[in-house]
Amino acid sequence: MTEEQLARGLKGVVIDKTESSKIDGKLGKLIYHGYDIHDLAEKSTFEEVCYLLWHGKLPTQKELDDLSRSLAENRALPPQILQIIDLVKATHPMDALRTGVSALATFDPDTEDNSPAANLRKAIRLTAQTATIVAAHERIRKGQKAVAPDPSLNHAANFLYMLKGEKPDAESARAIDLDLLLHADHSSNASAFAARVTTGTNADMHAAIVSAIATLKGPAHGGAAQAVMTMTAEIGEPERAEQWVKDAIAAKKRVMGFGHRVYKTEDPRARHLRDRVRHMGEKYGQVKWFQILSRVEEAMAPYRERGIYVNVDFYAGAAYSLLGIPEDLFIPMFALGRMPGWITQILEQWADNILLRPLLKYVGPVDLPYIPISERK
Ligand code: CMC
Repeated sequence: MTEEQLARGLKGVVIDKTESSKIDGKLGKLIYHGYDIHDLAEKSTFEEVCYLLWHGKLPTQKELDDLSRSLAENRALPPQILQIIDLVKATHPMDALRTGVSALATFDPDTEDNSPAANLRKAIRLTAQTATIVAAHERIRKGQKAVAPDPSLNHAANFLYMLKGEKPDAESARAIDLDLLLHADHSSNASAFAARVTTGTNADMHAAIVSAIATLKGPAHGGAAQAVMTMTAEIGEPERAEQWVKDAIAAKKRVMGFGHRVYKTEDPRARHLRDRVRHMGEKYGQVKWFQILSRVEEAMAPYRERGIYVNVDFYAGAAYSLLGIPEDLFIPMFALGRMPGWITQILEQWADNILLRPLLKYVGPVDLPYIPISERK
């Protein structure tokens, strides 16, 4: 590709090989290392998916137990990180997460060691500690004390425990577990690409994860679930959904939770969250969000012929809301789910590293005479 051949947004550009995940955008299929997302959603857990992505195979019971124990043992944060979280408590939770991971680099014994063994140790620590950062920040900003992790709970249940200070019921814990595993990897998405760009310069894993977190924050990527709930609140009643969508489209606004760079049919992850939101809404007597979202989906049906279908974020926000998770924690939730995928792509990048350095087509002026500052108008 030369400077003359523009690939804006890198649409359709294949940047490397991966064994981590594959999206078939036409068929609406997603696989993690060979396994269909529907099988994993029904039968697997977040910890098992971490193992699959990092080791390229499903674990034996012992391997899964070992990884689960390592994750549980590495959840605690150095006290200085809790102090830093306290200092930045007024910031957006995504910024607190980014700051926390950046600060963790100071305390991690392996920060500068990029060997495969050290990278695996950092993978475990970062996956475990990021959940603690998000939960601790939420509590500290509310004036509460951070809750120490409980090693008897799995990653999802412990997260809810650290967030709320009470052990969650099995269904709530499973809803988070499912949400995390559905978000675990998604090929060359913008944040994973950012992690690869950073790794391409031989920068360490903490640096790459900071890049990924920063990139996930935008509404075109991780911010959509929060925007969907803002939209749901604005619509207010199911019968207002159709007109709201018509007005939004007429005003050339994007309906959040719809459309995808790769999927031109329904995002396969959406089905599982739709089912959860319907089920939890009925269980908790809070069916309005599901009704509004269903009506928005119906109103968006004409846009399917243009390849605009519901994506993972459309029902994720309602699932979080039903679990009592505040709206500005939705992107951090996405980040916690995406950690194993970012890490596996960082590991892949390290395994055969290359500097990611594309070209830009220069369209600015040329040959301008340099005018001394005293003569400029
Ligand atoms: N609502 C209305 N129109 C849309 C939407 C939408 N959500 N998404 C795409 N379009 C239209 C867009 O206006 C454009 O129309 P036209 O050709 O007339 O200008 C056409 O579809 C193509 O849009 P595009 O921006 O060129 O397509 P893209 O592949 O670059 O966009 C996207 C992908 C995700 C940025 C976009 O669909 C979008 O902004 N969606 C809303 C935000 C959202 O839900 N993001 C979460 C994505 S899934 C989570 C993740 O993996 O990060």
